[in-house]
Amino acid sequence: MTKKQPNLREVSVGVVGLGLMGSSIVAALLIAGHQVKAIAAIPEDVEGADLRIEKQLRQCNEAGLVPYSPDVYAEQLTISVDYNELRNCAVVIECVLEKIEIKSSVYNKITAIVGAETVIASNTSAIPISELQTYVDKPARFLGIHWAEPATMTRFLEITCGKLTDPQYAQYIFRLAHRWGKEPTFLKMDIRGFITNRLMYAVYREIFYLIENGRATKEDLDKSFRYDAGSWMTLMGIFRRMDYMGLKDFALIINRLFPELSNSETVPPLMQEMVSRNARGVHNGKGLYPYSNGEAKEWDDAFADFNLKIHKLAAGYSAEKVREQTS
Ligand SMILES: NC(=O)c1ccc[n+]([C@@H]2O[C@H](COP(=O)([O-])OP(=O)(O)OC[C@H]3O[C@@H](n4cnc5c(N)ncnc54)[C@H](O)[C@@H]3O)[C@@H](O)[C@H]2O)c1
Repeated sequence: MTKKQPNLREVSVGVVGLGLMGSSIVAALLIAGHQVKAIAAIPEDVEGADLRIEKQLRQCNEAGLVPYSPDVYAEQLTISVDYNELRNCAVVIECVLEKIEIKSSVYNKITAIVGAETVIASNTSAIPISELQTYVDKPARFLGIHWAEPATMTRFLEITCGKLTDPQYAQYIFRLAHRWGKEPTFLKMDIRGFITNRLMYAVYREIFYLIENGRATKEDLDKSFRYDAGSWMTLMGIFRRMDYMGLKDFALIINRLFPELSNSETVPPLMQEMVSRNARGVHNGKGLYPYSNGEAKEWDDAFADFNLKIHKLAAGYSAEKVREQTS
């Protein structure tokens, strides 16, 4: 498979599933310059999909990330329930509920329409790509493209190959992703949780262990994460941070600390309790913290505002830019 750097306008990309992430991915692809075929996986998706996509585009315009108002993208976008619209897509990204039976039925509908060379990808957060690709005709062209919300403003993108993926397709997406303004990671063979979830779940295991053993409150743990890790993570990542600290005491501390960290393999009782209370956090006011009516919207607005600022801030501090300043 040889694919050279095309004009993005000539590359149609399909997105199937227009919920929270699907709408956000559609907006990111429009901004990158693609023709986008947005397919409503269920009829309810159609309702409000145009407004959800428009809201994302408007926020980017108001924030100065893109110079165009949402109407400029109208002719690049098709919203439909008809999978036939995917016929000429070079890439189709599935973004439906995290259930294998739903995703697999969507793959059947996609593969019945698209060409044999069309890359088919899932935005799954946690289902192994090797497992999902067993439901796809010509599985060599199937891989994971895991976006972070909001897809228009985050630089993160995880590209993951399954056992049957031909790496050439992943390389093609890796190159394309740079043109979407991303800093993609590339996992040659999928592992459960990919990269980010493995890191975050190691942290979740430890925070529940600390709370449940009465060592610290959730407020303390949040403060530690926000004002310690949060103050250097976006700038340095983890390995550069260790270099920056001088690497001196890490081996000593690892030796003393690793045996004391939680190695639990079960759902923490506090999380189990949240599940049994149907706690959905900001979405239904039942969470690890209390929430009043309307607080979900306040957190949504704060997150959108913060994302925008950190997106701009991070752009000025890539490793290349920091090096440029010293040369
Ligand atoms: N929300 C996030 O921050 C986030 C981040 C990364 C990855 N993801 C992944 O993206 C995918 C979609 O997540 P979301 O947050 O957009 O969810 P969502 O609940 O907002 O949207 C789910 C979508 O699934 C589809 N759907 C629902 N029932 C269906 C059915 N019976 N048949 C076919 N399609 C159906 C619809 O298109 C619906 O809009 C999931 O795999 C999720 O793990 C989400």
